[in-house]
Amino acid sequence: MSTTSILDRDRVRELFDLRGSYGAAHGGGYEGDPYPVWHRLREQGPVHAGVVHELTGYEGPALFQGLPHPDRPHFSAFSYAACDTAYRNGEVFASSIEPVDPNNGELSVSNSLLTMGGLQHRRSRALVQPSFIPGKAQWWIRNWIEETVDQLIDGFADAGRAELNVDFCAAIPVLTITGSFGVSVEQALEIRAALSRPDDIVEILRPIVAARREKPEDDLISVLAQAELKGEDGKTTRLTDAEIYSFSVLLLTAGSGTTWKQMGIVLTALLQRPEVLDAVREDRELLRPAIEEALRWMPTDPMFSRYVTQDVDFHGVHMPAGSVLHLCVAAANRDPDRWRDPDEFDITRPLTPTFAFGGGVHVCLGMHVARAEMRVGINRLLDRLPNLRLDPEGETPRFIGMYERGATEIPVLFG
Ligand code: HEM
Repeated sequence: MSTTSILDRDRVRELFDLRGSYGAAHGGGYEGDPYPVWHRLREQGPVHAGVVHELTGYEGPALFQGLPHPDRPHFSAFSYAACDTAYRNGEVFASSIEPVDPNNGELSVSNSLLTMGGLQHRRSRALVQPSFIPGKAQWWIRNWIEETVDQLIDGFADAGRAELNVDFCAAIPVLTITGSFGVSVEQALEIRAALSRPDDIVEILRPIVAARREKPEDDLISVLAQAELKGEDGKTTRLTDAEIYSFSVLLLTAGSGTTWKQMGIVLTALLQRPEVLDAVREDRELLRPAIEEALRWMPTDPMFSRYVTQDVDFHGVHMPAGSVLHLCVAAANRDPDRWRDPDEFDITRPLTPTFAFGGGVHVCLGMHVARAEMRVGINRLLDRLPNLRLDPEGETPRFIGMYERGATEIPVLFG
């Protein structure tokens, strides 16, 4: 049976629509173009008192990392240099102000690797890092990405048309990450749906973790089940089940909720510029710079936050200890001090590091997996679907969303 016929299309659409209930909480109702406002704010000063969505003029619901915390002062940074300063100093700009303890605290991404600091973060990240280095990209491609991509294309190749956002972009990352956790295709969407109910995820993972403790397989959950952590006393211990679940909830969330939107952004940017798409089709070496440029031009997660641990004067603004600093990385990625004509989507510009995957010690662990998913996915579309183009009679794709940005729909024709 093909993957598309297993994945319930309506369910995928419901779970992967920025305007649906899941996305709406993160500002999915925002339909404007925030970049002109962010340019104006940056010109007025690199750092402002206030929260990004309010400063942008959006009044709908918009939760994300570092929000809402109404009891704390909030600041937002819009320049590359200000975001860079914060990323480089994890002691003053911490990912959490609460102690992080997966063994005792609640099971959530805000009590995981993502929020740890200092030595605790270094030791935990070191456990999983080897599975995410560039050299491991082929492991991900061979074990999960390639087959998923081909099965998905099989599902619509004969139809001459498809809606790539749901039928393709949404399915690849969720099937890749759940596959690496030994979760069946049938349960992949259950995992996605249960991300806000972590106890249900534990129920799905418990038998898999137990089996991999006994007998490891060639997958990521076995890496976690077998990983050993060296304590301060020099003794090595295995990760507890609670620590494994904490990692799992983070990886399943980060791995399934981001790349689909980013792949949709790359595809939309290319489909809306047929001459650039033709150039990429002809010379696949251009796909890499096209993906990197889309990450700069429109990162799917435009904002990440840090907690200020001591009084600090920061790029001309005084921030008291206890403040929240929102790093508007999407604005930083279009800082004219770093990129010429920053609003242009230009795949020929020199490659310069961006903040699409964050920065500093918490820089995205899965960035090479995400890049591999986008590269393999788009390459195979171009290989297998001749004359791939936007459907002129379909809804024109639009970019929407405040803290999670992506395309509405990507209706295409081919053949
Ligand atoms: C295009 C897709 C993706 C984007 C734009 C993205 C973006 C980011 C960003 C900005 C951060 C830093 C958060 C912070 O500074 O607080 C981050 C962290 C992280 N990402 Fe991704 N991500 C993507 C895909 C993935 C994938 C596919 C995985 C897993 C397979 C993943 C796993 C993680 C993990 C585990 C962290 C936490 C790292 C740490 O705290 O040390 N991400 N991601």
